[in-house]
Amino acid sequence: MDFQLKTLGLDRACAEKCDALVVLVGEDFKPGQDPLSKLVADALAVQALGSQAGKLLSAWRPAGIAAPRVLLVGSGDLSARAVRTAVRAVGAALRGTRVRKLLVCLPEGVRPAGVHATVSALGETTYAYTATKSKPEPRELSKVIVGVPDAARPGVQARFEAACGTALGIEFARELGNLPPNIATPTYLGQRARLLAREAGFQCQVLGPKEVERLGMGSFMAVARGSHEPLRFIVLKYQGAAAAVAPVVLVGKGITFDSGGISIKPAAEMDEMKFDMGGAASVLGTFRALAALKPRVNVIGLIPSCENLPDGRALKPGDVVTSMSGQTIEVLNTDAEGRLILCDALTYAERFEPCAVVDIATLTGACVVALGAVRSGLFSSDDELAQALLDAGESALDPCWRMPLDEDYAEGLKTHFADVANMAGRQGGAITAAKFLQRFARMYPWAHLDIAGTAWRGGAAKGATGRPVGLLVDYLLSQQPTAPASTRAKKKPARKTTPGQKATRARAR
Ligand code: BES
Ligand code: MN
Ligand code: ZN
Repeated sequence: MDFQLKTLGLDRACAEKCDALVVLVGEDFKPGQDPLSKLVADALAVQALGSQAGKLLSAWRPAGIAAPRVLLVGSGDLSARAVRTAVRAVGAALRGTRVRKLLVCLPEGVRPAGVHATVSALGETTYAYTATKSKPEPRELSKVIVGVPDAARPGVQARFEAACGTALGIEFARELGNLPPNIATPTYLGQRARLLAREAGFQCQVLGPKEVERLGMGSFMAVARGSHEPLRFIVLKYQGAAAAVAPVVLVGKGITFDSGGISIKPAAEMDEMKFDMGGAASVLGTFRALAALKPRVNVIGLIPSCENLPDGRALKPGDVVTSMSGQTIEVLNTDAEGRLILCDALTYAERFEPCAVVDIATLTGACVVALGAVRSGLFSSDDELAQALLDAGESALDPCWRMPLDEDYAEGLKTHFADVANMAGRQGGAITAAKFLQRFARMYPWAHLDIAGTAWRGGAAKGATGRPVGLLVDYLLSQQPTAPASTRAKKKPARKTTPGQKATRARAR
């Protein structure tokens, strides 16, 4: 889908050729003298239209307007949230109507965030999954013109472009997530990463079982052991800043199917465990957006990917495995596999001397209980990083909520038989999982996003959401230096490292 931003008032919109024209009508609609304004004013006067966000009124060939189909939609206070509600309603109303070229007119009061919400809501509601249908019904919409009263207003163009790039990333993540697990295998994810890297000019390495063994990733290998599908460890590198600038590392859980392993899950809804690679999909989707937006930051993507299945060689409860960090882990439940593959990726991340590491994982059912499908769980050892991610979530309408990491929560992970156990009791399950990961993330500022509740929807609307690509892209864009290139070079090489970290690093070398 192709988006274009244009300076366009309602007067000029009347003459635009398109299959459908949408007018967002806010609470304080100010009509002009043109036919569209009259139409809106008339409808408002008799309450055929309300300004409540999402209220729709459609017209067919109204006089004086070139577009055959006109949709008026209430858009409340024109906040990003209200605009999203309005545009979602439009997207739903357009389904199956053969509209290819659409014009969306945003009113005077709309802010850059509203422009962003327009693009993302249209991308979201018109997405159609077709990959494994014998009679595909693809997206009909191919061109969208976003008309604003003044496209030159500060921030509008930049935010529009960011939204378009982000939409590509979200769609990429959704598509990968929705693919069935017999197609979206670890090997397939590796191929898609390579292809993306080739098209965008990124560096990409895809490691297999032998290389991962040589690295000493005993914990990751142990999870993969129960499956015939070979594991993959994907390394993606995006360089948008000088080589000396410390990168942000994104680590995505890539379990392409989670049966639970020997600690097998109940049959009901087990199909949804194909979405257990949502973290991996969000990392790949973020790189898709980076390819489009080319921000001035350095980003590394790490994806440990395998299946979690039970067979004669599978990991068993009671097994003790040795992670890449050297820490031994007693596996009390093979269904707590996400942390077992992530811990080795977190250790691998140290070699990049990152300014921040963010892991993204559909990690715990407990997080779904705690926060539902609205906010992702955020855990962080670093207040500044946590705040930046919280802010990015709000700005992208892809919110998260900070959870605690008190040391007392780690009590339950103690065991007589290894350095740490892979699960604690039922209480605070999202937090104890995060405490486990934290043991492997002591060398850099670290955050963990538990997206078990937000990465996909179940039930009738079953499907991947593409979250938290919006949050991640917003965060990465916010990490760009604000000063112009010439002044930037002077002060940059300072890496964020505490004296303690420096000492540990020196020892490690
Ligand atoms: N992938 C699941 C988490 C999950 C479960 C996400 C349900 C969304 C819905 C993860 O691998 C898992 O099975 N976690 C266990 C951990 C437990 C055994 C400590 C869980 O949450 O039950
Ligand atoms: Mn599991
Ligand atoms: Zn899992």
